[in-house]
Amino acid sequence: MSTVLLGVNIDHVATLRNARGTIYPDPYDAIALARAGGADGITIHLREDRRHIRDNDVERICAAKSLPINLEMAATQEMLEIALKNKPHEVCLVPEKRQELTTEGGLDVVSQQDHLLAYSKNLQEANILVSLFIDPEESQIHASEKCNADIVELHTGRYAELEYGSKDWRLELERLTHAACLAHKLGMIVNAGHGLTIENVHEIAKLPAMNCLNIGHSIIAKSVFIGLENAVAEMKNTLANN
Ligand code: PXP
Repeated sequence: MSTVLLGVNIDHVATLRNARGTIYPDPYDAIALARAGGADGITIHLREDRRHIRDNDVERICAAKSLPINLEMAATQEMLEIALKNKPHEVCLVPEKRQELTTEGGLDVVSQQDHLLAYSKNLQEANILVSLFIDPEESQIHASEKCNADIVELHTGRYAELEYGSKDWRLELERLTHAACLAHKLGMIVNAGHGLTIENVHEIAKLPAMNCLNIGHSIIAKSVFIGLENAVAEMKNTLANN
């Protein structure tokens, strides 16, 4: 069985920098450390309000080329232009509300199918893979296939919030399992992310056809105490020994 890949989301390195308006810590410097710890990719989210990652970070991080870059963004014209200019390896389209603390729900692909199909085509014609961040619902997976998505990233936020081992937690895991099987059957690559930690990642890493987990907050939080390279290595080893 091949090991699930680890994409490290480095947004919160920028959160720390921006909290004091300094130029450190620089998220760019996180790439080499994440790579040394075994990361397979780097994820950054350029939000409309630029609360963590900024345009200049996107430019420098996409130019680094030492690891594949996954750029999370809303499906707007402004973001499309930024993605086409910086050419990340993949773009993950996410919903975005200004007031939310973090990305709260999956993208409603069903209600925006025509828009997302045309939008994705622009990216794919520039050789950028398109991932759609969705809740583990059948309708969203079928709609993602109709949008020609290369990848679906299953939202594990609800799973992460539920009490580990509870009835609802098991039901959510079943929903995720079903969603992963269906997306794989329809020919899409299956990723997952949101709220994953060393403690709750095991079951998600075992989901059928799981390709890559995108993990940010828990790794960056851990790195405050043990360093980024060690925090990434700890997660990577957890996935390798799962
Ligand atoms: N995947 C997506 C699409 C996200 O929006 C986020 C949060 O930015 C993550 C993964 C990582 O979530 P977390 O920081 O909770 O690990």
